Amino acid sequence: MSNPQDQPEAAASPDEITRYYASPARRPGAARALFNRFARHYDLINQIFSLGSGAWYRRTCLRQAGVGPGMVVVDVAVGTGLLARQAQRLMQGRGTLIGIDLSEAMLDQARKTLRIPLLQATAEAVPLADGIADFVTMGYALRHLSDIGQALAEARRLLRPGGKLVLLEISSPSHPFVKLVAGAFVGGVLPAISALAARNHQAKALMDYHWRTIAAYAPPKAVLEAMRHAEFQNATCASELDFFRFYSGQKPMLNHRQSNPEPSLCGDFGTSCRPGQYSPGP
Ligand SMILES: C[S@@+](CC[C@H](N)C(=O)[O-])C[C@H]1O[C@@H](n2cnc3c(N)ncnc32)[C@H](O)[C@@H]1O
Repeated sequence: MSNPQDQPEAAASPDEITRYYASPARRPGAARALFNRFARHYDLINQIFSLGSGAWYRRTCLRQAGVGPGMVVVDVAVGTGLLARQAQRLMQGRGTLIGIDLSEAMLDQARKTLRIPLLQATAEAVPLADGIADFVTMGYALRHLSDIGQALAEARRLLRPGGKLVLLEISSPSHPFVKLVAGAFVGGVLPAISALAARNHQAKALMDYHWRTIAAYAPPKAVLEAMRHAEFQNATCASELDFFRFYSGQKPMLNHRQSNPEPSLCGDFGTSCRPGQYSPGP
């Protein structure tokens, strides 16, 4: 990964970011610069954005999906660890939790509260071996990816047969009235509150960015289609307030003809690991 200073300043402007959405190749650099810049304010803004329900909602979705003690969970786009902390709570100290994110500043924030392996990498190329995970989770990051299909293929690769994908995302409400109210609240009221609370005008820019990307992002139908295309079974989407979406899908079980070698976290370095992969301690 290149140094954040290598990223052009303009990459962090919400206007620019939205424009970069037409150019997937530039999206990781732009998203990384943005989250590096806002990492310090992320948790506070998230509290405001979710009206304090964020931890509860994340935990409820993970519990419904079946996350529990003894499991291997890879949280992709872990950010400051808001979703991973809820997974950790459900796992009750048993199992393995690994976080992946492209922003070093977000990972630094996560390290303050999470004692788990936290790796800097993209969702599109995760440096872990095949078939290690019972769950791959990703909270509120679909909008920022350069290649959703590739990220879903990576998630599928990481999962053991029968393992589950859990995606949380926000998307523009389908009902015109709800959309109007949400637009006024998220695009107008919340940015002002965030700026005041964080005492930083950049907090307002982050909220602006959120609303623009939410408004521009693919609807649930398209996400479900992408999941099916990536060969996830039982792909479903549950909505809260016509706004918060909880997607889940399952990697198909192996049929009896296929072999199922016992996976290790970083398998065979010669074949399934790329350079710089995480290798768990003894
Ligand atoms: C809105 S935050 C969500 C953080 C966390 N999952 C949560 O539930 O609060 C989105 C995160 O996605 C990360 N991100 C964006 N694009 C990414 C990519 N291509 N690969 C990995 N992480 C990415 C950002 O750095 C940021 O930390």
